[in-house]
Amino acid sequence: MPAVTPPLKATGANALPHPVLVRSLQRAYSAERAASLAYIGHAASLRDPAAKARIKEIEQDEWDHRRHVLAILQHYGLPVSRRLEVQYYLIGQFIAACCHVIGWFMPYFFAGKLESGNVCEYFVMMRHFRSLGIREHDAILYEMGMKEKEHELYFLEQVKHSRLLPWFEKVFAWGRGRSRNDVDLEAKYALEDGYQYCPRHDGKPALKSP
Ligand SMILES: [Fe+2]
Ligand SMILES: [Fe+2]
Repeated sequence: MPAVTPPLKATGANALPHPVLVRSLQRAYSAERAASLAYIGHAASLRDPAAKARIKEIEQDEWDHRRHVLAILQHYGLPVSRRLEVQYYLIGQFIAACCHVIGWFMPYFFAGKLESGNVCEYFVMMRHFRSLGIREHDAILYEMGMKEKEHELYFLEQVKHSRLLPWFEKVFAWGRGRSRNDVDLEAKYALEDGYQYCPRHDGKPALKSP
């Protein structure tokens, strides 16, 4: 009997023919480490043990996200971007160093603004996967998007009574009245509808209040 050659498993761009999604996954993988490194610096700059412990928890969430995104990349045989790894490593270390010199308010404020944008990344990925008929990553992407929202709200809680917030909110378009996503933790979409979040997500702020 002639030997049967098993079909080759598609990898890389063949397995995931969606360049925007591939780039988003590679960017998220590297950006999650930048976030973790930044939170290491943020935690180190704080004196209050409870605040330090909460930031350490958030740091761990970001390491977990990086691990989950890597699993998706590996599932499709997609490479990590060396360029993004270096770029985001430097960004993370820079932010970590800044946390020691820019005072109390700004590390919380800018963490909240960045988290606000991160929320949509994972819901938009759900939408991209769905356009390819792939639903198997929905649960982990939904979970990560919701976790980023929790992070955003934690940071907002820390700065919401600061006298600086109204000024920063005006200039940087994030704060009590402005968010970069439309997720409401009190009235979440079901998992299967999660792809409908961030319908106008284009990297710009102000969809609605968190
Ligand atoms: Fe994250
Ligand atoms: Fe986060």
